[in-house]
Amino acid sequence: MTLPERREMPTVYEPAEDSRLLAETAAEAVAADERVLEVGVGSGYVAATVREATGAAVVGCDINPDACAAARESGVGVVRADLTTPFAAGSADVVLCNPPYLPTPPEREWDDPLEYALSGGDDGRRVVRPFLDDVGRVLRPDGRAYLLVSSLTGLDAVRELATAAGLEAHERAEESFPFERLVVLELTPSSA
Ligand SMILES: C[S@@+](CC[C@H](N)C(=O)[O-])C[C@H]1O[C@@H](n2cnc3c(N)ncnc32)[C@H](O)[C@@H]1O
Repeated sequence: MTLPERREMPTVYEPAEDSRLLAETAAEAVAADERVLEVGVGSGYVAATVREATGAAVVGCDINPDACAAARESGVGVVRADLTTPFAAGSADVVLCNPPYLPTPPEREWDDPLEYALSGGDDGRRVVRPFLDDVGRVLRPDGRAYLLVSSLTGLDAVRELATAAGLEAHERAEESFPFERLVVLELTPSSA
């Protein structure tokens, strides 16, 4: 699966290796009759790839209005939202998320939309934490989420947060780079 040509989207996250790993993993894991929500949809690359590969109904959300507009251009239905807050309980079979996951020193806390797309706060888990807290509510009881994180985010800490939120976490895919390992965690409600 190849990444798209670079586009001039200065305020929207450009699809990168993390996007590709999540898209490939989800394209293999999603069935045509499933309802999929991508949280932090960005350019729409992951959502559009999964929809095209599987035929599933995919909607996205993002906190950045420019990302919402870009994803709509790629044909994805999008809601501007903070994580999963507006979505009904049990409304998704599958939730996808490639969140901001890079630890950011406090003195470098970023405030423009593109930088906000990357900054995971001082521990890298600023967005991962509330995502894990609410994603189980949005999932159907037999649903699952695919969360992209990095070794820089603290994989053990992410697993602990998932357990505390009532989710089981299993590594579904990974790719190693010189300075980090990208991992897709499959999250399922513990009672499923
Ligand atoms: C690393 S980018 C990933 C974009 C796209 N999913 C991809 O894989 O190429 C993270 C995205 O999450 C969005 N985001 C950050 N915080 C968010 C929040 N609280 N609610 C919704 N989206 C958020 C950012 O605007 C950005 O588009």
